Amino acid sequence: MEMSSRVPLTYSRKVLELFRNPKNLGKMEEANAEAMAGSLACGDMIAIYLKVEDGTERILDAKFESYGCAANIAAASTLTEMVKGKTLEEAWRISWRDISEDLGGLPSVKFHCGVLAVGAMRRAVRAYYKDKPQSEWLPKELTPEERQALEEEKLMEILERRVERIKAEG
Ligand code: FES
Repeated sequence: MEMSSRVPLTYSRKVLELFRNPKNLGKMEEANAEAMAGSLACGDMIAIYLKVEDGTERILDAKFESYGCAANIAAASTLTEMVKGKTLEEAWRISWRDISEDLGGLPSVKFHCGVLAVGAMRRAVRAYYKDKPQSEWLPKELTPEERQALEEEKLMEILERRVERIKAEG
């Protein structure tokens, strides 16, 4: 019997459905909060766009672009659905575990794909407050999810350094 060297990932039905037919995919021109972030675990990138109602701080619309794997596309799709209608504070509290649960579970090697989606969303929330007085609930320090979802420049910088090191090692 011939054995494949690659073990297939067991994705839930919902992950596969959203991968094939993602909701909220695409750029949002009228966004007033957005962030692009990448994962050091895999080098994948994601952009999150939010349209926030000033005053109520309620998210009227959310979209994403993903240059990541099936799990990341499904996670971002589900996350953008979840945050619609929520306040920024409520959205902030969504964890990657909530996303994984909503998706019917993610394989453990794909947890970081959900973390990347949450981290990028939190970076977008922070971007919203950049020129505004910060809300009390917003932590001063970056959360672990944000630290794992690195800003594009930072990710590129680290990846380039890695490539140089690999080249130097021959
Ligand atoms: Fe990179 Fe999923 S493997 S986001």
